[in-house]
Amino acid sequence: MPMNIIYREAEPSDAGKFLEYCKRVGAESDNLTFGAEGIPFSISQEADFIRKYSGNPDCVMLVVFDEGELIGTGAVSVVDGRPRFAHRREIAISVRKDYWGKGIGSGLMNLLIDFCKKSGVESVELEVRSDNERAISLYKKFGFEKIGRNEKFFKINGEFFAADYMNLYL
Ligand SMILES: CC(C)(COP(=O)(O)OP(=O)(O)OC[C@H]1O[C@@H](n2cnc3c(N)ncnc32)[C@H](O)[C@@H]1OP(=O)(O)O)[C@@H](O)C(=O)NCCC(=O)NCCS
Repeated sequence: MPMNIIYREAEPSDAGKFLEYCKRVGAESDNLTFGAEGIPFSISQEADFIRKYSGNPDCVMLVVFDEGELIGTGAVSVVDGRPRFAHRREIAISVRKDYWGKGIGSGLMNLLIDFCKKSGVESVELEVRSDNERAISLYKKFGFEKIGRNEKFFKINGEFFAADYMNLYL
């Protein structure tokens, strides 16, 4: 597979591709907070959502392209606007299935953790399905540790799935 991988900040003009991407990755695994339906936003709502990230120095949304195709995304988000949470951020990533195992997830984690370090963040947080071994070993590789578990995190087609809470203390 020829690869010309580019990581960059998301731009409002990525909104259409972003929504299509979400439908695709949502269908490819049951590990995300949405399925094949994707994100319930119009293109202009998604563009506004991306603008919120690019206009806020405390968070970032990244996209990964290969030859013009969106193949991965990652974000650092603020937990809440409250001053007592200002040291914390949430991190989330996804990669299109035909690109798994090629280092894209690691590339995203490197950039997102770097962003957190430069922003003075002290607690980087994420939630991951407890049976998502690929993602959990990726997060452990970057120093995340399990701090808890929610037995009923997801309910998919009537079945509960647990998730681990993992933190990286910087
Ligand atoms: C989890 C995910 C982001 C990983 O992305 P990726 O591009 O495949 O990751 P990488 O190629 O950088 O691999 C990273 C690590 O994953 C782990 N890994 C890779 N293949 C694995 C496998 N078959 N089994 C277990 N762990 C595996 C390894 O620790 C690997 O690091 P290494 O190559 O240095 O040993 C991707 O699989 C994905 O998007 N999955 C669906 C959505 C999802 O689960 N998102 C996370 C929600 S919390």
